[in-house]
Amino acid sequence: MRNLQDMVVIITGASAGIGKALAEQLSARGAKLVLAARRVEKLDDLNRSLGSNHLTVKADVSSPTDCEQLIARAATHFGRIDTLICNAGYGIVRPVAQTSEIEMRAIFQTNVFGTTDCIRAAVPLMSKQEKRDGFRGQIVIVSSAAGRRGLPYFGAYSATKFAQLGLAEALRVELRPQRIAVTSVHPIGTHTEFFTTAEGLSASKMPSRGAGEVRQSPAVVARKTIRAIQRPRPEVWPFAPARYLVSLGTLMPRVVDRVMAKYRGELDQINAS
Ligand SMILES: NC(=O)c1ccc[n+]([C@@H]2O[C@H](COP(=O)([O-])OP(=O)(O)OC[C@H]3O[C@@H](n4cnc5c(N)ncnc54)[C@H](OP(=O)(O)O)[C@@H]3O)[C@@H](O)[C@H]2O)c1
Repeated sequence: MRNLQDMVVIITGASAGIGKALAEQLSARGAKLVLAARRVEKLDDLNRSLGSNHLTVKADVSSPTDCEQLIARAATHFGRIDTLICNAGYGIVRPVAQTSEIEMRAIFQTNVFGTTDCIRAAVPLMSKQEKRDGFRGQIVIVSSAAGRRGLPYFGAYSATKFAQLGLAEALRVELRPQRIAVTSVHPIGTHTEFFTTAEGLSASKMPSRGAGEVRQSPAVVARKTIRAIQRPRPEVWPFAPARYLVSLGTLMPRVVDRVMAKYRGELDQINAS
């Protein structure tokens, strides 16, 4: 079991939502954190609320230079990197055929290349460091349940989350000899700024939540992710039934298409006006 006390953890997208919840819970367990995002004032507020022991870094993960500098600053400040959590990301609400080239490239730049640029910088450093509790390091990639089943109006976003899962699956096997664990996280809808940001960026609307729609708190997602930091495993599904539903979808895509068509109908209606 990996000890969280004094573990050095980098969290991208720590200024809000799931990243912030991870920071709060990891700090309470004694981890040394590197908190990264674009809104550095939010990171500084968070750091103060946690006792000011952590390092805050203004970093836009869509910039390869920012990713490189983030990893370098973390290593210089704390002397090692035990866990890199690639969490920064966003969604847009737009049918695939109406997603512009600029929107499509931008979402890949942040969600996918922001992930690979941080990993590329971190792996050589992790590979060189001594093992701690049996591992040289761990990479945690916050993908989504939409990384296993594409959602209407979230096609571009889903594609980035599929890409993250593909990277995690390959990396997990590639980095095994170095004793660097790789874990992908697949939350369902979570109460964060995610949906408001997505609506704002796309000038689109989402239907108000139906009675049957489950959303989790970022604290629950963080708690379940932290369990997989202590005992690394391939995947975390914070809402377990989602894993079985999306697996069913791969066996019976037509059935899931029918369910999704209902959701698309609601989105069509609300965005028609
Ligand atoms: N909420 C959900 O329903 C849900 C479900 C499944 C998966 N996820 C995934 O969970 C992750 C976290 O999302 P969340 O729900 O916590 O959303 P959120 O509340 O909107 O937080 C997103 C975080 O990402 C950061 N971020 C966005 N673009 C960035 C960039 N270019 N560079 C650096 N940081 C950036 C934001 O910080 P700044 O704006 O300060 O840069 C913020 O801290 C995302 O990868 C998302 O895809 C969310």
